[in-house]
Amino acid sequence: MKAVVRTRYGPPEVLRLADVPTPAPKGNQVLVEVRAVSLNASDWESLVGRPAYARMGGPFRPPNRILGSDIAGRVVAAGRHVTAFGPGDDVFADILLSKGGFAEYVCVPQTALAPVPAGLAYEEAAALPQAGAIALRGICGKAQVQPRHQVLINGAGGGSGMYAIQLAKLNGAEVTGVDNAEKLEFMRSLGADHVIDYTRDDFTASGRAYDLILDLAAHHTAFAYRGSLRPGGRYLCVGGSVATLLQVLLAGPVLGRAEGKKIRVLGVRQGVQHLASLVGLIQEGKVVTVIDRRYRLSQVPEALRYLGEGHAKGKVVIVAE
Ligand SMILES: NC(=O)c1ccc[n+]([C@@H]2O[C@H](COP(=O)([O-])OP(=O)(O)OC[C@H]3O[C@@H](n4cnc5c(N)ncnc54)[C@H](OP(=O)(O)O)[C@@H]3O)[C@@H](O)[C@H]2O)c1
Repeated sequence: MKAVVRTRYGPPEVLRLADVPTPAPKGNQVLVEVRAVSLNASDWESLVGRPAYARMGGPFRPPNRILGSDIAGRVVAAGRHVTAFGPGDDVFADILLSKGGFAEYVCVPQTALAPVPAGLAYEEAAALPQAGAIALRGICGKAQVQPRHQVLINGAGGGSGMYAIQLAKLNGAEVTGVDNAEKLEFMRSLGADHVIDYTRDDFTASGRAYDLILDLAAHHTAFAYRGSLRPGGRYLCVGGSVATLLQVLLAGPVLGRAEGKKIRVLGVRQGVQHLASLVGLIQEGKVVTVIDRRYRLSQVPEALRYLGEGHAKGKVVIVAE
């Protein structure tokens, strides 16, 4: 089969399209013919090996030759212990830990799979796993966004932000989206009431305060975030610089306690089976998935460069020929 492989960390130039053996499913795995795989910031981070947490599985050499984790496709074979799926089933999955989606076929444990939801195309199902899980957990989890809450989403022009803006608006919040200048209009089109260009303005220095800050690209200090929260507000981050994540992890629980502020790293539950409520909203037409660009498997390096250089608005998806 064809797959996009790499043997070291580096820019998109380290990737090449190669012929590799088609994997055989083990007992509890199915072999999926990949019809669509969406890109995430995690793919870029694993490609270049930055921030440092992207090298956790292999400090010097990447553990995964083939990247790509949010997949949708058709089951073509199943291991002998597989009971829930069979050849011909349309499925989607988040395979962040094992990866391998930038290929014609990939083996996936049956526990990671769910049927492609009715009415969704492969590319829409592939857009959902990581971005949807982060947005759901960030907006509808413990944060419990309420009507008229002031919500700021930092990094809101990417995949997770696309869903997060819409979910916050559906909950009645007043939403501020932060991203680079190219994505301001995009964030407005999703419903953001206010937008900030992070390359020009620092939201932590604006004097405004929020009930919830969902941070997809944390780079400020935990003290700065505390200053941007209303009393009782929550700051939740899922990605960013290691220094900031460590500071939030270690100092967050004590900072702001006196004012009832919560400053935390948000743990996201992996697994497409947790996405049912978001899928329902998409099926009802209340939330949309915006696919900025589609690329072929051979164009994965170009697609990752587009994402990594900061142009992608919503999702970028690799679709099968
Ligand atoms: N906690 C977990 O379990 C978990 C699981 C999966 C992923 N993640 C993390 O979740 C994060 C978001 O993922 P995603 O797929 O939504 O990413 P994405 O689609 O790339 O979106 C991130 C957005 O943040 C913007 N950005 C970058 N630096 C910024 C800054 N300093 N201030 C404001 N915005 C900035 C990016 O714009 P530019 O294009 O300008 O860079 C991009 O539009 C990633 O950091 C990823 O590692 C966490």
